[in-house]
Amino acid sequence: MNPISVFVKLGGSCITDKAVPDSLKGARIAAAARMMRKALDHAARRGRPIRLVLGHGAGAYGHILAQRYAAVAGVHPKRGWEGLYKIRESMTRMNLLFVRHCNKGGLFPVTVSPFAVAEAADGAVRRLDIHNIEALLEQGQVPLLHGDIIPDTRRGFTIASTEALLEALSRRIRFDRIVMASDTDGVLGCDGATVPRIFRGNIRSLSESLAGSSSPDVTGGMREKVERLFALLSGGRAGEARILRLSGRAENLYRAILGMGGGGTLLKP
Ligand SMILES: Nc1ncnc2c1ncn2[C@@H]1O[C@H](COP(=O)(O)OP(=O)(O)O)[C@@H](O)[C@H]1O
Ligand SMILES: [Mg+2]
Repeated sequence: MNPISVFVKLGGSCITDKAVPDSLKGARIAAAARMMRKALDHAARRGRPIRLVLGHGAGAYGHILAQRYAAVAGVHPKRGWEGLYKIRESMTRMNLLFVRHCNKGGLFPVTVSPFAVAEAADGAVRRLDIHNIEALLEQGQVPLLHGDIIPDTRRGFTIASTEALLEALSRRIRFDRIVMASDTDGVLGCDGATVPRIFRGNIRSLSESLAGSSSPDVTGGMREKVERLFALLSGGRAGEARILRLSGRAENLYRAILGMGGGGTLLKP
């Protein structure tokens, strides 16, 4: 049977306190890793192996600096490439800690550094070399991406969110399931209640409830997350997506990876 491809993103708002520089929620990452391990093992035992690509957001590491250096716009008129140096340093540090916490949960993802394999043209990811990602998947390993600062042919550099990288990756790999853990119980409607399902019939009416992030997030917050995901899904380039908030021991992440629910919001055109 063909393996199922799943993309999981642990959002920066879920694994850091976005307002506090360099704050990482290690126990939460380890709990999520434990559940991802459990889901992979369960799927393998049932003869339906999962190919997992993992991503993590930049949260309190990347976004605060990206805002300070206006890094989406690239080389700074006064501060030049300093933003790139600082953000690269911060993201590689965060990524190392992230991997260590995953290891505590029994998951051993292998970082494929976006800066080294991606390139943007005027802010949009145009090229993503997926050779190493595919090679890892072929060997049953878990490639790990993260929001990063990447080279840009016009701007010198720019910021690529995990969502933008996923979009580029989806040109080549079709994910049956996408799971994004953030800090709200999925997508909230104007009344503040979770919208259980987003589909063609309600995506337009929802747009007024969608906004950027209330914490520093230079890549568009929930609005951009939903818009990018919905475009992917309605273009047939991915199966379905779920946005959720991790439960205490992240059991809902386990269920979501296996396609057994998980709460939050299901996006399925
Ligand atoms: N309708 C909405 N439902 C949920 N969150 C929303 C909504 N509109 C805006 N947001 C904001 O988007 C944030 C999630 O996006 P973001 O900060 O980019 O998360 P992540 O770190 O997971 O990428 C929420 O914390 C909230 O502040
Ligand atoms: Mg974000």
